[in-house]
Amino acid sequence: MYVCVCNAVTTRQISASIAEGADSFRALRDQLGVGTCCGKCSQDVRSQLRQECASDGCCRKRQPS
Ligand code: FES
Repeated sequence: MYVCVCNAVTTRQISASIAEGADSFRALRDQLGVGTCCGKCSQDVRSQLRQECASDGCCRKRQPS
């Protein structure tokens, strides 16, 4: 499913970036371009980041920004 329509970024791409170590919104923005146009996807990207970090425990090491 597309999360960022402006940059054609899907939930799968975001999951893959998180699995490869992206642990902040800034990292996802830099890698995938999410939130760099209209910004409407920002909350959804942050929400996915929080959920996936919580499920693998990376939030215990570092809070997503
Ligand atoms: S939907 Fe992501 S920047 Fe517009």
